[in-house]
Amino acid sequence: MNALLSPVTAGKLQLNHRVVMAPTTRMRTVQGGVPGDLMIEYYRQRASQGGLLIAEATAISPFANAYEDAPGIFTDEQQAGWQRLVDAVHARGSQIVLQLWHPGRQSLPELSSGHQPVAPSALIAKDTYGVVKNEQGAYEGKLFPVPRALDVDEIQDLMNELRQAAIRARDAGFDGVELHAANGYLPEQFLLDGSNQRTDSYGGTLENRARFLLESVGVLTDIWGTGRVAVRISPGGIYGDMHDSDPMATFRYLVEQLNRFELAYLHIIEPRIVGPEDRNAGYYENPVASRDLRAFYQGTIIAAGGFKPEDAEDTLQRGEADLIAFGRLFTSNPDLPDRIRHAFPLTAYNRDAFFGGDERGYSDFPVFTSVEE
Ligand SMILES: Cc1cc2nc3c(=O)[nH]c(=O)nc-3n(C[C@H](O)[C@H](O)[C@H](O)COP(=O)(O)O)c2cc1C
Repeated sequence: MNALLSPVTAGKLQLNHRVVMAPTTRMRTVQGGVPGDLMIEYYRQRASQGGLLIAEATAISPFANAYEDAPGIFTDEQQAGWQRLVDAVHARGSQIVLQLWHPGRQSLPELSSGHQPVAPSALIAKDTYGVVKNEQGAYEGKLFPVPRALDVDEIQDLMNELRQAAIRARDAGFDGVELHAANGYLPEQFLLDGSNQRTDSYGGTLENRARFLLESVGVLTDIWGTGRVAVRISPGGIYGDMHDSDPMATFRYLVEQLNRFELAYLHIIEPRIVGPEDRNAGYYENPVASRDLRAFYQGTIIAAGGFKPEDAEDTLQRGEADLIAFGRLFTSNPDLPDRIRHAFPLTAYNRDAFFGGDERGYSDFPVFTSVEE
């Protein structure tokens, strides 16, 4: 595992190895979307060996959320909770970036101050669910309703929300921010022609469809400067009822435009993944993967999605990406970089505990100790 465990610089982030913790929504904040002791312990456990953690999708607005008990970054209490969490990660010598999230049409009114979801166009995300708590206190899936189309003034309001969130993230001590432009959330809803039917300057041509995403990145680099802003995309993804008539052209244009921002990294989810799951075989219609975009992007690439340590190493050796993010494996292996280094066995993850709950299946996975020790 020579490449995976070798140091790397991603923008202004200097990392001891290339095993990144992917952002994973676990729905375990305390009241009001505030990171509490349980979440802090979870991230602290995974902060070993000078690596990079990407904190889970975090709402930038009180008017857009999809998962009960997911965190936010729009109140003082949320910011203070994140600051404690960041301090705990830094104390163990790792770095942490916050994933800034506006779910757009994938929002539930009951988690969004009663507001109807907003989107580029009034097009529903078919067969896509958020998660709410029912009266018995159990989590249950809930279909997203039809959104309403944003008017142009409102787009500026969203940019202001993003700006405030970026300032709060900086003040909480994060090492950077990652725009969540993957998995069918708002920036991707603007980008793909399957979800954007606007006829104003935010729709129609590819240039117009990319405008929202690129303006968002501009807002973030205004606050953070170069080398500390990142973007996550899912170019072959279908999660959230997403589709595009020409994904290769769309994503090629996007990543070429992203070159000018001197990002910390571009984070690409491989097309074999649908949200938190593997895609069924036989899906490969219009795939665009990190290896396809490499030629058009000049900076550091993190690839994610379905990697095991061995094929992660192969991907780096072939030069298709610079770092690899692990999602599900990090949930059950808090010491994942160490296990890779020593070829220790990996613990299987517990899918039932992914979304919501207590410490079980969350912060109760031990680090590896071999029987001989
Ligand atoms: C429980 C769970 C929660 C997730 N939450 C997020 C999230 O908040 N933001 C995001 O960009 N991706 C999220 N994902 C997707 C992962 O970051 C990753 O792309 C996906 O799990 C595939 O990688 P893996 O095969 O290493 O797990 C989530 C995945 C899982 C399993």
